Amino acid sequence: MTRHSQSQIGLFSSDPWSARVRDLESALHDLGASVIRVIPWKVVRTGSTDRHRIVTGDKDLSELDLLLVLDLGATDIGAFFNRVGLLSALTEMGVEVVNSVYSILQMRNKAETMRKLVTAGLPVPETLITESIEDAAEFVKTHFPCVLKPITGFGGTGVQLIEQQFDITNIYDYLKFHSQVHGKGAFLLQDYIRSPGFDIRALVVEGEVIATMQRVGGQGIATNIHAGGVPQHNDIDVNDLAIAAAKSVRGRLVGVDIIPDLLGGLWVLEVNATPGWTGLQHVTDFDISKRIAETFYKP
Ligand SMILES: Nc1ncnc2c1ncn2[C@@H]1O[C@H](COP(=O)(O)OP(=O)(O)OP(=O)(O)O)[C@@H](O)[C@H]1O
Ligand SMILES: [Mg+2]
Repeated sequence: MTRHSQSQIGLFSSDPWSARVRDLESALHDLGASVIRVIPWKVVRTGSTDRHRIVTGDKDLSELDLLLVLDLGATDIGAFFNRVGLLSALTEMGVEVVNSVYSILQMRNKAETMRKLVTAGLPVPETLITESIEDAAEFVKTHFPCVLKPITGFGGTGVQLIEQQFDITNIYDYLKFHSQVHGKGAFLLQDYIRSPGFDIRALVVEGEVIATMQRVGGQGIATNIHAGGVPQHNDIDVNDLAIAAAKSVRGRLVGVDIIPDLLGGLWVLEVNATPGWTGLQHVTDFDISKRIAETFYKP
């Protein structure tokens, strides 16, 4: 357990209006922590022959004890490398970064998450990752209906069910279109898990499931809250599976997506490195931000 008396905690987020940043900031303040928001474009990194510094305003970020990464953002490659670089540098300068850069990169890449889940012996739908449109088309033909999604994405964006109304003959056109808009050159195709109409999101903090919810509805098959999914109370026990999934990518503050099939089986879809908890809070009877603050900060 992390102990940081009088410690300085940074909240890394590219969204200045994020509710979870605001709520976590006030929860940490209430516990007596000094908190600083770290907005990537307000961070200045300088280097010269004799010195290298990372500051925001007049604050030297290498003095932080803990940096919680609440959203990395960065769909542009330049910003992505800058932000990953900042977190790697601060880690080497002694700042405890949660989640670690290593695990964030594992989770931002669904192919690597899938590999880690498989290595941990966890149930994942059969998945193909390729840059070959021919191989992708072949998977669709042999695994119809199936799900096409970006190798890195969030909120259900670009998650497409390929099923009967789909004219399989022009699958190449659709794959080309999807790749240009969402996939950015890589295809991730997966067996479609027919569910009872919902999936489950589990919030795992320091190896413990602190809250779960079922997500119903949403756009197409994506039940994400971000895609209009509605949170409802969950009574299916996914704790062991969610904890093992978090552990497989060394996640310390993560959201695990698990989908039940029609035979009572459970499948892990992915592990999110920067989970939200607004939806979860609707079906949880304690303050999640306060619980996270208490987990990472002990006065
Ligand atoms: N193989 C599948 N079978 C059935 N439903 C699926 C499958 N893959 C994804 N889904 C549905 O689409 C949603 C989004 O998929 P996934 O979690 O992989 O992508 P995401 O956009 O990264 O989401 P997040 O915002 O959680 O990072 C899932 O929550 C689930 O409802
Ligand atoms: Mg998801």
